[in-house]
Amino acid sequence: MQLLRLNLFNFRSWENTEFKPGDGLNIICGGNAQGKSNLLEGIFFLATGKSYRTYRDRELAYQGRNSLAVGGQVRTTTGEFSLVLRWNEKEGKSFTLNREEQGRLADLFGHLTAVVFSPEDLAFIKGGPQLRRQALNLLLLQTSRPYYFHLREYNRILAQRNTFLKRLTPSKGNELLLLSWDEQLAESGAELMVRRQEALTIMKPWIKEYNYRLGSPKKLLVQYQPNINLAPGFDVQAAKNAFLEILSSNRRQEWRRGLTLSGPQRDEVLFLLDEAELRSFGSQGEQRTAALSWKLAETEYVRQRTGEYPLLLLDDVYSELDTKRRQFLTSEAARGTQSFITTTEKEIRPSGAAVWEVSLGKIQRIS
Ligand SMILES: Nc1ncnc2c1ncn2[C@@H]1O[C@H](COP(=O)(O)OP(=O)(O)O)[C@@H](O)[C@H]1O
Ligand SMILES: [Mg+2]
Repeated sequence: MQLLRLNLFNFRSWENTEFKPGDGLNIICGGNAQGKSNLLEGIFFLATGKSYRTYRDRELAYQGRNSLAVGGQVRTTTGEFSLVLRWNEKEGKSFTLNREEQGRLADLFGHLTAVVFSPEDLAFIKGGPQLRRQALNLLLLQTSRPYYFHLREYNRILAQRNTFLKRLTPSKGNELLLLSWDEQLAESGAELMVRRQEALTIMKPWIKEYNYRLGSPKKLLVQYQPNINLAPGFDVQAAKNAFLEILSSNRRQEWRRGLTLSGPQRDEVLFLLDEAELRSFGSQGEQRTAALSWKLAETEYVRQRTGEYPLLLLDDVYSELDTKRRQFLTSEAARGTQSFITTTEKEIRPSGAAVWEVSLGKIQRIS
């Protein structure tokens, strides 16, 4: 997949810019606070409708403006299309595909796919499990339409079920009502678990391989740990049954606490480095390398599922890596994928890469 052209209007520090990247590796250099990360954020926003730096869309609009737009021309193996994502204060986000207004924002997923690694991801291993669940969700949202519907359904039922548990007291009638929530919760929850398991099964060998190629002598093992205890290789039916069982055995406790206590909202992804938990025992460097390996494995997952590599966005990765790892990453980023690497170091000019300089709100090719 290739981004032929990117347009930013009032996006972060970019008032009005057109950028036509090269088809392989793009190095984007420039001093601090020149807008390098903002540019990558713009690409990611066009791909997913989300920023990886903020939940508040209004922060994305150029200071003082109440609307923004990001547009792009994209080429895939099957053709070309144009995508424009707009946000304004009154109506929120909307997008057009080939200039045609699209009804649902959720349909944005999957047209342009992107994987990003940014300084924010340094918490990926060390931080709470919600970071790893979010990463899995976003990956699955980009590659599977049904996942979106299952996730939305699951969250909707979960919220309603929690409200129900909080507001109402246990009684025969209420028990019966709860049973019908359980059924729906277990059904969509099982779909999420099975799809997460599938993703990890595909990514697992890649994560291990990338971690090795990034120079780590230790063996990295990544495991999906569904909150509901399940034998590896479980299917939707097994997950649903196990979920229903645990809901029924937790019944009393859930009434008392007014909360759903189990389910994929509590899933975890476990990282083991030579069998020790990376989160607690790994050095910062080991954690960073593992997080990067996960991201590179995501690109392989997207390719396996969609037939196309996603765009690879690497924000400021060089500063944390030694020469050997830099070289590996550069050659990896130049292979098969269109990629974007931001850096403050001007002397990084790998052969074959398009080198860009960002300064004073402008981007221009320098090599
Ligand atoms: N909504 C916004 N409107 C205008 N400027 C912004 C906005 N958000 C961030 N900026 C500015 O963008 C600059 C940082 O850009 P960034 O892309 O993070 O820099 P870097 O080149 O170091 O990656 C800062 O000067 C910040 O004030
Ligand atoms: Mg930056």
